[in-house]
Amino acid sequence: MRAVVVRSPGPADSLEAVELPDPSPGPDELTVEVAYAGVGFVDTLFRSGAFGLPTPFTPGIEVTGHVREVGPGVAGFRPGQPVAALLNDFGRGMRAGGYAEVAVAHAAMTTRLPDGADLARVAAVLVNGVTAWLALRDLARLDVRDDVLVLGASGGLGGITGRLAAIHPARRVIAVAASPGKRLSDATWTDVVHGADLGSAVRELTDGRGVDVVIDPVGGELRTRAYDQLAPFGRLVMLGNASGRDTAIPGDSLWLGTRQVLGLSLGGVAHLIPRRVGAALTALVDLVHRGVLREPAPAILPLDRVAEVHRALEDRTAPAKTVLAVR
Ligand SMILES: NC(=O)c1ccc[n+]([C@@H]2O[C@H](COP(=O)([O-])OP(=O)(O)OC[C@H]3O[C@@H](n4cnc5c(N)ncnc54)[C@H](OP(=O)(O)O)[C@@H]3O)[C@@H](O)[C@H]2O)c1
Repeated sequence: MRAVVVRSPGPADSLEAVELPDPSPGPDELTVEVAYAGVGFVDTLFRSGAFGLPTPFTPGIEVTGHVREVGPGVAGFRPGQPVAALLNDFGRGMRAGGYAEVAVAHAAMTTRLPDGADLARVAAVLVNGVTAWLALRDLARLDVRDDVLVLGASGGLGGITGRLAAIHPARRVIAVAASPGKRLSDATWTDVVHGADLGSAVRELTDGRGVDVVIDPVGGELRTRAYDQLAPFGRLVMLGNASGRDTAIPGDSLWLGTRQVLGLSLGGVAHLIPRRVGAALTALVDLVHRGVLREPAPAILPLDRVAEVHRALEDRTAPAKTVLAVR
């Protein structure tokens, strides 16, 4: 099969197209003939060595396609069925593998798709959508009276988290504005504020009360500014560090401010809760298929242009989401 591998971690040029033997499924696994593989910022971290994966490996943690073969112990799937699968399972030694014509998936983190499902659109929502689902429901415990502030709203994860919060619904879903040239104009956002005057803008919008939930895939100075606007009993959910900068939050400010800071890494926890992740995946895909969750159409590029997509993610010029057409 055709696949993209990283032999030694490094810049986008370390993504190399090669021929590999077709993989076979082990117990509780199935193989997928990949139609589309989603690309996210997290893939650039895999590629650059931030997670220290053994090499060589094939990146790509979210795919759609058709079942090729089912392994021992797998029920409910048959060859030819359209499916979506999450492959970001660090704990069991599964090393991504989505940028390839055939990928190995755990049955527990694979969901069947209806015939006629839009495989490109579905591939675009898997990792970010399941992360957003768990972040809003299980960590932030979103309430209809909540005001939510979303950092990185122009990106894949921030965007879908805002849209899921909006259909929950939350009272306000406030976006923090993106780089000039990237517009945040859809109906998801009740308000758009700028990072530079985030504090005063949030105080004005909430009559000085602050927000109940901050969704933070960005980190850095923006995290500190957003944290400072959390109302008592407010929850800040850390989902990433797209700025490349982690920032500490002092314990005393949590205690004296009666606030919560929570973290979630889907790849770090998926192997511990595969059925919960699988249930979230099924629910999410259903929302997309029924048109309840309306995600913008992703950009679609062929597999051999993957390095270009990684470069655009790293220099902040990428569209909100790109998927690779593999077959
Ligand atoms: N917790 C999980 O399980 C999980 C799952 C998926 C992703 N993630 C993480 O979430 C983060 C975002 O991923 P993504 O796929 O959404 O990336 P993305 O599509 O590239 O979006 C990144 C977002 O962050 C903003 N941003 C980047 N650098 C910034 C800076 N220095 N200051 C302010 N804003 C900045 C971007 O704004 P502009 O549009 O202005 O550039 C954009 O809105 C990554 O760290 C990724 O690893 C975590």
